[in-house]
Amino acid sequence: MSYENILVETRGRVGLITLNRPKALNALNDVLVDEVGAALDAFESNDDIGAIVITGSEKAFAAGADIGAMATFSYMDAYLSDYITRNWERVKTCRKPIIAAVAGYALGGGCEMAMACDIIIAADTAKFGQPEIKLGILPGAGGTQRLPRAVSKAKAMDMCLTARMMDAIEAERAGLVSRVVPADKLLDEALTAAETIAGFSLPVVMMIKESVNRAYESGLSEGLLFERRVFHSAFALEDQKEGMAAFVEKRAADFKHR
Ligand code: CAA
Repeated sequence: MSYENILVETRGRVGLITLNRPKALNALNDVLVDEVGAALDAFESNDDIGAIVITGSEKAFAAGADIGAMATFSYMDAYLSDYITRNWERVKTCRKPIIAAVAGYALGGGCEMAMACDIIIAADTAKFGQPEIKLGILPGAGGTQRLPRAVSKAKAMDMCLTARMMDAIEAERAGLVSRVVPADKLLDEALTAAETIAGFSLPVVMMIKESVNRAYESGLSEGLLFERRVFHSAFALEDQKEGMAAFVEKRAADFKHR
């Protein structure tokens, strides 16, 4: 399948999506987000793919929703088209893990797309922000909801209300990103992490993703119960037998269901 606004390739067992609207700093329009969804569909149904990386350019992961496309929208246009968020949930609903590899600007919808991924690895050049207030709107794809869960209410309020950007070091300190690496190592680091994940048992990877996500959606007791049920079910997997046998026999595990 050919795409207009993204590049799609595979690297070993990793699916790589590169946002590619360089002239608009990867501003997110419906076509681009639909294409990301289609690429995720293809990777999700491909047994040879165990993890996915989404990245942008050196200058921008994505500078937000496409302002030109929505500048003249009426309320009815935005509401009826369910603008920008219509196709957004696909990143969240993907059952295979997704790493956002972020260099440069991740603003507005760009920051929101990165937050919808499972892990954010940032280049030391990364800048995160929710500057929508400067445009007379508010974040519309999770900024007011995912950011406080990631970085605390005070910092989320600060970013959404003042529109200031957070650099990579502050973002790591605040818990928004999992690692900061030199810009020229970003893609290697993200692909290596994704390849590591893709080497483990896929059902276990998916169970972990589902369980960690449950922490966002439920109270602690319900989340712990969910985790325990899934934990017990892991003992039905051949890969559990293989993983534990390999440990006992002091050899590398050879998981069948990768
Ligand atoms: N939408 C459309 N085009 C955009 C864009 C966006 N979000 N961000 C940048 N561009 C375009 C610019 O218009 C410019 O195009 P031209 O060369 O044709 O003029 C090109 O990308 C390069 O941008 P700049 O010249 O502005 O580059 P810069 O280095 O001077 O500044 C920047 C970079 C600080 C990221 C600046 O471009 C900027 O502030 N962009 C807008 C950021 C923003 O407000 N994002 C939130 C969007 S709303 C949203 O995302 C809603 C939501 O929650 C879903």
